[in-house]
Amino acid sequence: MPKYHVTTFGCQMNEHDSERMKGMLESLGYAEAAEQDDADLILFNTCSIRETADSKFVGHLGHAKRLKNEDPSRVVGVGGCWAQSVKDEVFEQFPFVDVAFGPGQVHKLAEFLNSDSLTAQGYFEFEGFTGDLPAHREREFQGWVQISVGCNCVCSYCIVPSTRGREVSRDPDDLIREIATMAGDGVREVTLLGQNVNSYGRDLEKSRRISFAELLREIDAIDGVDRIRYTSPHPKDMREDVLRAHAELPALCEHIHLPLQSGSSAVLKAMKRTYDRERFEDRVRLIREFVPDCALSTDIIVGFPGETDADFEQTLEVVEATSFDSAFTFVYSPRRGTVAAELPDQVPHEVKRERMARLVGLVQQHALQRAHRFVGRDIEVLVEGASRTDAAKLRGRSRHNKVVNFGGLAGAGELTTVTVESATSQTLAGTESLTARAVA
Ligand code: SAH
Ligand code: SF4
Ligand code: F3S
Repeated sequence: MPKYHVTTFGCQMNEHDSERMKGMLESLGYAEAAEQDDADLILFNTCSIRETADSKFVGHLGHAKRLKNEDPSRVVGVGGCWAQSVKDEVFEQFPFVDVAFGPGQVHKLAEFLNSDSLTAQGYFEFEGFTGDLPAHREREFQGWVQISVGCNCVCSYCIVPSTRGREVSRDPDDLIREIATMAGDGVREVTLLGQNVNSYGRDLEKSRRISFAELLREIDAIDGVDRIRYTSPHPKDMREDVLRAHAELPALCEHIHLPLQSGSSAVLKAMKRTYDRERFEDRVRLIREFVPDCALSTDIIVGFPGETDADFEQTLEVVEATSFDSAFTFVYSPRRGTVAAELPDQVPHEVKRERMARLVGLVQQHALQRAHRFVGRDIEVLVEGASRTDAAKLRGRSRHNKVVNFGGLAGAGELTTVTVESATSQTLAGTESLTARAVA
């Protein structure tokens, strides 16, 4: 049996694409190799969101090149956003690569493997969502579902619209069918993926069109789905109907990832985010009104071109006022082909670093403070397996998306109740409630 190995970089969308790649390869008769060295087919699923993502991947390619030199019958493939952003230049930069394909062209890999082509081949069309490839799930009780591909926004710093194309929503009936099948196979938690999930449906033809909130309601009604998550919504499209769904649907988790990017309206405008600081703060108020205990997480960029000290102070103010449960913080990185990369007033590296350090300090302070509200509470945890830090303990995730390490007896894939005893900014610790075991 030929063997494959996939190395994945980037976001959950890419991880899910890799699952689909693996599922497809297994249906073609390939088996997964534990190490790259044992694989006949070496694949990389790449990301290009920041420069660090590019360099990380290029560092990994060296090893594949050596393996290919040792045994030229090995096939090396590069898929994903970086491949899409450079297209056929992949083969000029790295002549040992046999096949390259964009994020929407995973299925073309099968075509390549089934052909007798000896020449390098690239596949970079945008075709919308490409077919029902079987997914090879890391955990049988958690599943990802891509509800839309691409992005119609034009955020001036972002490479994604050029790597994933225009937004295409998937047909709601297909989605419901896919999720019902997953639930039948034992998936209890589904995470809906899209670059802008709450604009879902707008591009569908009228007779098929449903809104994101309606989609959530239909998924909540599927038997066996205990938890629904989604990422990422856009503040401009965050409407009351979605928050009402949060308040009413038992399966929809109390966690919203709402990317702020910057607290300065001037910077948001230059970023072409199409909302301002007031709109963002108003959305946060609305979230807290409908779901008072909701966990909020966010993405923030520091050092966008032209960001002044006063702009940055406004980001700190919004972080202070919102008190996020967690935040991903990024140093702005100029991306090829984006508007922002050409802007004057790029912020010096030193200034970016200093702002980042202040932001991270504030984010952690709030994350810790927010985490402490769980201490003493009994919370529902979906058990994922053994704890990574202490094999005698279990690890799981709360509905608020907190990692929970705890002592207990529950098995992976079970929902249980944990009494929280302590908290850090990142994780909670506690003990499985014995009454929960007795009831189960
Ligand atoms: N579609 C999602 C996010 C996709 S990328 C959304 O709009 O929320 C994930 C995060 O990477 C973005 O939210 C942004 O904070 C960050 N990011 C994107 N491009 C970047 C760049 N050029 N430099 C630094 N961070 C960037
Ligand atoms: Fe990029 Fe903006 Fe689209 Fe998110 S919404 S993927 S940041 S262009
Ligand atoms: Fe994701 Fe990276 Fe592409 S973050 S969408 S894999 S550029």
